[in-house]
Amino acid sequence: MQTQWDDQAQDGFHSNQLFWDERVPSHWRSQMYQQHARDLRAGGIALDDQVIKTLGDLTGQSAIHLQCHMGMETLSLERLGATTTVGIDFSKPALEHACTLRDELGLTATFHCCNVYDTLEHVDQTFDLVFVSLGALCWLPDVPRWAALIGNLLHPGGRLYFIDSHPMASTLDYNKEHDLMQVHFPYFQDKAVVLEEDGSYASSETGFKQNRTVEWNHPIGEVMTALIRVGLVIDSLDESSTCCYKAFENMTPSRPGWWQLPPALDGFVPFEYTLQAHKA
Ligand SMILES: C[S@@+](CC[C@H](N)C(=O)[O-])C[C@H]1O[C@@H](n2cnc3c(N)ncnc32)[C@H](O)[C@@H]1O
Repeated sequence: MQTQWDDQAQDGFHSNQLFWDERVPSHWRSQMYQQHARDLRAGGIALDDQVIKTLGDLTGQSAIHLQCHMGMETLSLERLGATTTVGIDFSKPALEHACTLRDELGLTATFHCCNVYDTLEHVDQTFDLVFVSLGALCWLPDVPRWAALIGNLLHPGGRLYFIDSHPMASTLDYNKEHDLMQVHFPYFQDKAVVLEEDGSYASSETGFKQNRTVEWNHPIGEVMTALIRVGLVIDSLDESSTCCYKAFENMTPSRPGWWQLPPALDGFVPFEYTLQAHKA
């Protein structure tokens, strides 16, 4: 049975899907994702070294990637040895690229086009690994329902690897005139924030038409509590002051593909966090 949603959530899913669908061609062309595709075509893995190290050898395991975009990370999970690999995303054009790349690489991952909350309509098995990565939770209105989904997708002993933007970073804005980082959005939000922004994290292209997004900031405590309540045991929570894209104009490169605040502000704000958990 499909989940029922209030008007704001339905409006959000609708706007956000238009936003994502329109950005796919530009993302596919972008330096960031073309590099990931080149890495995969060269037999490599399109994941950060630290993530690869933490995930380890997935030989013989089953893995599902929620909000997999153009599938490059999902295909990387298969390259790490997973024998069953599934990717979920609601953007049809994104998954068309995922399927084309999978076929080109001779891999076997399956992709399902649906709202992440409807995953169980399409998938009837449990997994060793649920993988969720950067740019995921801000698109989802309901964390307890998301956590329940993860609880249902994991078999006992299965683990969650979740890396995402830090909710504290989402409260900030950069005031160029005064060279100041300002807290502009509340950390605790009882309703969504509606934004209107051209451009994208992955490409310098502009001139998009679908720029309206509806986003939800989810405090770390809300996420951890929701996961604990569905029976997950939290193994680690790591916060990082680097960011996988240039989130603010004053950011400087830290290492290839990563950004941080200028030296005087480095370490002031967490930009990402990684939460690992397992199902008891
Ligand atoms: C920032 S991207 C993820 C990027 C991914 N970590 C990568 O590196 O390729 C966010 C993805 O979430 C998907 N998405 C957003 N809301 C969704 C929803 N309610 N159900 C399914 N997919 C959703 C978008 O279509 C998009 O592909």
